[in-house]
Amino acid sequence: MLTLGGRGPRRGSSLSNLGIIKDGALLVRDGLIAAVGTRAEVEALPEARVAEKLDLGGRVAMPGFVDSHTHLVHAASRAEEYELKIAGASYEEIARKGGGILNSVKKLRAATSEALKKRAHAALKQFAACGTTTVETKSGYGLDVASELKILRLHKELAAEQPLEIVSTFLGAHVVPAEYRGKTGGAERYIQLIEENLLPEIGESRLAEFCDVFCDRGAFSVVQSKRVLQAGRQWGLEPRLHAEKLTRTGAAQLAMLMRAASCDHLEHVNKSDIQALGKSETVATLLPGCDFHLGLKQYAPARALIEAGAIVSLATDYNPGTSPTLSMPMILSLACTQMHMTPAEAITAATINAAYALRREKSIGSLEVGKQADIAVFEVAEYREIPYYFGVNHCWMTVKRGRVIHAAEQV
Ligand code: NIG
Ligand code: FE
Repeated sequence: MLTLGGRGPRRGSSLSNLGIIKDGALLVRDGLIAAVGTRAEVEALPEARVAEKLDLGGRVAMPGFVDSHTHLVHAASRAEEYELKIAGASYEEIARKGGGILNSVKKLRAATSEALKKRAHAALKQFAACGTTTVETKSGYGLDVASELKILRLHKELAAEQPLEIVSTFLGAHVVPAEYRGKTGGAERYIQLIEENLLPEIGESRLAEFCDVFCDRGAFSVVQSKRVLQAGRQWGLEPRLHAEKLTRTGAAQLAMLMRAASCDHLEHVNKSDIQALGKSETVATLLPGCDFHLGLKQYAPARALIEAGAIVSLATDYNPGTSPTLSMPMILSLACTQMHMTPAEAITAATINAAYALRREKSIGSLEVGKQADIAVFEVAEYREIPYYFGVNHCWMTVKRGRVIHAAEQV
């Protein structure tokens, strides 16, 4: 059993410490972990004698994955852009031709809440089947008042209707919507809409915990991003940022300056960004699924970030444009082979450090007394086989708050 227990977020060599207990066991009470130890220790507890027993048959148990960056609610895939990408068109070229995020915006605006919800529910089932127990999810394919609120309200409904924990992020500043483009001051007027017509409702109805901005070439500048994040904070939304994905803009520095929960992507960080992230509380979330799907060679410098002391985390970035995967095990495989992280580092990045990225380190991300009993069980001989077997799902069971929510076979 991998407990991932310990104090503080994992930096440097502590990313390699999985807190392994051989022949381990957990005692769960009311969805929370009441005891952790070896099977002998836990079974000796008086309460354990009367507890219902679930034998995992010597499989590998670990904290459920915390997927701290997804764009769960979208209307459809963008498979029509896939062949263009394969033929060599860049993400930005496709966007300029009317594809990209604005393509997904068109589709979402035309979709009913029911259709969006149905698709999201199906995806959440697959997340659970891959061992994920918490999913952060962003708006950002609506980009008008009604459609952004439609997505954020769906986040709330999804949280209530199925067992996975949903963390809602407002990403109204994903790109400037089509109707504001080509006019002077269009971006500024759209930001004004965010400030005056969206954030008050989101803040008052508590529709999101975080505010995110796509701060990059073709999206929002550092100055514009800062304005949106500051406005979000006034309504109680904590900042996080899409940073240094297409080009280096200084977005990671902005994230640190604003004490953002995380800055995500980071393919184009420079040396001083890496050094600064090494000393920062802002989590460096890497999304190798994007580079893989877009066929890019430049992954984020995971090794340099770990060596500098950054709190490195991993997420799927599940979305129709750059990373259509919801498999955290696949992300671990990519982290290992493409970014040279070890299996242990990748598992830490996808659990306890990801919990820090969502400011939920007190309740999830490790198997420790008092935390939620969020558990993923893998049908493998040892933990390294989780990323080693790429592209297949060996998740045997997923437990959320002590309740089995996915089982590969009848137990
Ligand atoms: O995280 N970079 C911006 N947002 C998404 C892509 C969204 C899309 O292409 O639909 C990302 O990669
Ligand atoms: Fe993203």
